[in-house]
Amino acid sequence: MNKNIAIYPGSFDPPTNGHLDLIERGSKIFDELVVAILRNPDKDPLFSVSERAAMLEALTGHYSNVRVDTFDGLTVDYAVRVGASSVLRGIRALSDYEYELQMALMNRKLRPELETVFMMPAEKYSYLSSRLVREVAQLGGSVKGLVPELVEQNLRGKLDPAYKLAEFAPAREERSETRKSRARKKA
Ligand code: PNS
Repeated sequence: MNKNIAIYPGSFDPPTNGHLDLIERGSKIFDELVVAILRNPDKDPLFSVSERAAMLEALTGHYSNVRVDTFDGLTVDYAVRVGASSVLRGIRALSDYEYELQMALMNRKLRPELETVFMMPAEKYSYLSSRLVREVAQLGGSVKGLVPELVEQNLRGKLDPAYKLAEFAPAREERSETRKSRARKKA
């Protein structure tokens, strides 16, 4: 019998808990799921493709039917190359729908034999995106619970040293508040 293979294409810069939630769901309905990282020379990523692949491999190693790969060119051509019949994509909110619909219909025009399958991640991840995770982490905010610990550690390694220091020092406003309250006490 033919295996029901799907690819889950994306940038994964970095992988989030939302991606992992979708991988878990996808691994249950497909015989094989290929997490496919786009090698996009136009983008200026935070993590290199090999760093993202290493993270995803470590994070999905416990699924016997999930593997991680990288690709360039058209997603549909890659899907056909690996023998996939479906493209898995996540839809978080209505705002994702228009872009995802355009991609799905363009992919259908290019390769009518491929189906795009949409799945919804858990509600708690519905506002989560790699872009926001990058921004919050780079500005010194906490991304705990939004990305796996491994990704959190790797994000820390990429942080601007100024924000790393900020983790241990009180924020500027707090410092000036402390000064003000000391001055009030003295007065
Ligand atoms: O995680 P992302 O950035 O939303 O993933 C977008 C991705 C990689 C699925 C999309 O950009 C893509 O398929 N790129 C490959 C080139 C391609 O096939 N373009 C036509 C899409 S209709």
